Amino acid sequence: MAAFGTVFMPEMAISWFDGSSWSTPELVASDSLQLHPGAHVLHYSSTCFEGLKAFRHADGSVKIFRMDKNLDRFEQSSHLLALPPIDKNATREMIIDTVRRFAADVPEAPGSLYIRPTHIGTEAAIGKAAAPSLTSCQYILVSPVGDYFAGGVAALRVLIEDDGMRCATHMGMIKSGGNYASALLPIMKARAEVQADQILFCPNGDVQETGAANFLLIDDDEIITKALDESFLHGVTRDSVLTIARDMGMRISERDITVDELLERAAKPNCEAALSGTAAVLTPVGTFIHHGKEISIGNGGIGETTLKLRKALNDIQWGNSEDKYGWLTEV
Ligand SMILES: Cc1ncc(COP(=O)(O)O)c(C=O)c1O
Repeated sequence: MAAFGTVFMPEMAISWFDGSSWSTPELVASDSLQLHPGAHVLHYSSTCFEGLKAFRHADGSVKIFRMDKNLDRFEQSSHLLALPPIDKNATREMIIDTVRRFAADVPEAPGSLYIRPTHIGTEAAIGKAAAPSLTSCQYILVSPVGDYFAGGVAALRVLIEDDGMRCATHMGMIKSGGNYASALLPIMKARAEVQADQILFCPNGDVQETGAANFLLIDDDEIITKALDESFLHGVTRDSVLTIARDMGMRISERDITVDELLERAAKPNCEAALSGTAAVLTPVGTFIHHGKEISIGNGGIGETTLKLRKALNDIQWGNSEDKYGWLTEV
């Protein structure tokens, strides 16, 4: 199977903002983006993106999961990066048109079609380090993806980093390329030095998130996860899992949690930890690495509650259970 996100459908929807209005969206070849080398995005990182998925149901229909939530975040990221405002209705239509165009290529469960709306500042102006791009471009790339857990589910090893940050605090809730770039070297170092799969960023002992997923601690029937603030990405999967868990009767505590409390709870036999995100839904964490010590979470393996919650969410996405929250949009 090709690596996640490396296969693209040959066309994408695209629309350009000329300083006053958006062009009528078109479907164009997905490798045909033309940019001036002085484009704002290439120098000053005026870029944000989204990640969501479309699922093929057993009856052949194709449904997009929580598109409106991703559109809200896309609008917010664009605003916080001083990019031109998006027209959410037009972007929604662009997503639907692109998915519809490739509906026949949406893989069957456990695969899906990953959707990547992107918004970039296009003004050719390298003197605008401290000024926004007046023009921009939006496009919707789609990429068929297979079973994320095809190689089997493995509990991750996660390095607890209580010094460094993933990104600047005020950038945390923006889904922007620079945030990922700023976390790359620390992640590479953690992989090489302690064979960690991910870093859990906990600046000054405050448990936040990993490089590309939110963090949930599951202690018996309680889920503890940081309350939404500007320092980390407000995951759609996080919100979906918390909604489902609440309905299952679990207690949800959205609050700050310190590394000390995390490690104390992790030692209990019923404790589980998981990473949540669109790509993998919920991935179990088996081991923390902290100041050179390895700490197993619960039994160190794959948590039962983690698997139960993941299945409940997947069942809605693939139409195996009722869409009782109205999360799916048919294309
Ligand atoms: C930094 C970061 N946090 C959290 C998430 C999870 O967000 P979502 O559940 O919306 O995919 C992502 C996702 O892609 C991410 O990159």
